[in-house]
Amino acid sequence: MLAWEEEQLIHVGAEAAVSSGRFLGLPAVRKIRRPRAYRNPALDRRLTTHRMSSEAKMLARLSSSSLPVPRLLACEMSSGIMVQSLRLGLQLVDVLRDGKSDVESLMKKVGFNIRQLHSVGAVHGDLTTNNILWDEQQGVSLIDFGLSQWTTEVERMGLDLQVLSECLSASHPEYGDALAWVFQGYESANDLPYNGSDLPPASAADVIARYNVIRGRVRYHS
Ligand SMILES: Nc1ncnc2c1ncn2[C@@H]1O[C@H](COP(=O)(O)OP(=O)(O)O)[C@@H](O)[C@H]1O
Ligand SMILES: [Mg+2]
Repeated sequence: MLAWEEEQLIHVGAEAAVSSGRFLGLPAVRKIRRPRAYRNPALDRRLTTHRMSSEAKMLARLSSSSLPVPRLLACEMSSGIMVQSLRLGLQLVDVLRDGKSDVESLMKKVGFNIRQLHSVGAVHGDLTTNNILWDEQQGVSLIDFGLSQWTTEVERMGLDLQVLSECLSASHPEYGDALAWVFQGYESANDLPYNGSDLPPASAADVIARYNVIRGRVRYHS
């Protein structure tokens, strides 16, 4: 892609290969869609194109907000390439394993930023500790919006918290209070303006109440 200067490959996942570099001189990452060998090629293209287009649209719409998410710099659907601004930091999964940070204050900031995302009428859809970055200077970043949606529904927002809760208890059981800190940050956040035409986003208290209902459902069925 014109204007892209590659630095290094940083991640090869099931669906995308990500490298860091510069785009028009700006620190950036490039995501390239990867075909999955074991899937039907036409279905594969549809799914990954759908995810790439969801991510590109979400980042474009969030770019005028103050949210700590990448800016969309370029996107070429036909070749499955997207360029975003580089967010600094390590994945939360590694920060927690490392155990050197103030986890309480970090998790409160994570909750704060999730609430601000919800308050503009967006849900992330895949809130694991791989998709949250932490950097001393830049703070928390939310990345990987391929499963995101524009919605103000309480259920979808509760599910975001449920996904994070599952991830924390499965991968970071040593931080038994982590979710409570996330919720404290979530409830303390000041909501950003909502500019959509649906009902306004569910309140923080309603989302946490719904999370508890969802958790009850999950327990009951497992
Ligand atoms: N904008 C970005 N800034 C910094 N690192 C990024 C950015 N986007 C992706 N990454 C890095 O690449 C990894 C994979 O990207 P991600 O968007 O999560 O794709 P996948 O769908 O493969 O999980 C992330 O976990 C992160 O380490
Ligand atoms: Mg990811």
